[in-house]
Amino acid sequence: MFNQALIQDPDNPTGGEWCGPYLPGARKGEDKVGAPEPGPVGGCIGRAHATMSLNISDRTRRYTSIMLKILMIGDTVGDPGQKAIERVVPGMKKRGEADFVVCNAENTADGAGVTESIAKELFFNGCDVLTIGDHGFDRRKDIEEYIKKEPRVVRLANYPKGVPGSGSCLVECKGYKIGVVHVAGQVFMRYSFSSPFHAADEEIAKLKTAGAKIILVDMHAEATSEKVALSWYLDGRVSAVVGTHTHIPTADERVSENGTACITDLGMTGPYDSVIGRDKTSVIQKFLTQMNVRHAVATKDVRFSGVIIQVDEYSGKAISIERVHRKLQ
Ligand SMILES: [Fe+2]
Ligand SMILES: [Fe+2]
Repeated sequence: MFNQALIQDPDNPTGGEWCGPYLPGARKGEDKVGAPEPGPVGGCIGRAHATMSLNISDRTRRYTSIMLKILMIGDTVGDPGQKAIERVVPGMKKRGEADFVVCNAENTADGAGVTESIAKELFFNGCDVLTIGDHGFDRRKDIEEYIKKEPRVVRLANYPKGVPGSGSCLVECKGYKIGVVHVAGQVFMRYSFSSPFHAADEEIAKLKTAGAKIILVDMHAEATSEKVALSWYLDGRVSAVVGTHTHIPTADERVSENGTACITDLGMTGPYDSVIGRDKTSVIQKFLTQMNVRHAVATKDVRFSGVIIQVDEYSGKAISIERVHRKLQ
């Protein structure tokens, strides 16, 4: 049985009011069931939902869980991706569908990199933390100084020493400390990063020492096996391990018995009438000729792609993960 969304009146600690659905035929106050669906996300063209049961032993808990809703957004590509964020995220926050938002911004600057002005725009539109992937420093001049003073822009933790910025950050949301870790895979990646497993260990230790109960890991990697392996390596130690980088959303979302939500890739927020965000004709031409061609960012079939993870803020355990994939034009 799921045991969540039990909202208790602080003045009546033994008389909690269940906000979720009841078992068929059950009267109010009797047995209840089901993980309440996160709020409406109209326009979805695909949704899936994985949940786990949470054993809340302290039924007399005076203030029960508010279940933080964490929105994690996949690689956001160019102007179309930025506009998708602008159209979707502020509304989701306003309607209470997302409390905290992590966005992968590595492709926001015309498809490669991120700049200070784009980062500020994304923060303005409701993103709380930006991860910047292996393209993070493609616009080096436009991000290198900013990342030194803006800890919410998180670079890969397993870069060599001396690279500006940090591989994790700690942010408060509704009074709870949330840590975000960003690591790169080693398999099929264009740079030689050090072990993401060891890098994640180090960042998680730092965040836990600083008081983070909820920890979200964005693993930026090509190989699904490497991402799944990291999710099991960190199982029960973090709230979520999600993948970015491939731009292709996967359908393997799950919540482990130990309360870690996982998905191999969040997919792309940007134009799907493309080859992973770029003009399809020029990419096909490159495959045909092996000659380098500049690939413009595509414009059509713009979609918003990510997941909503519900986390029990007391235990830091994930309760559910739901894919959000919305077609915007
Ligand atoms: Fe990307
Ligand atoms: Fe990438």
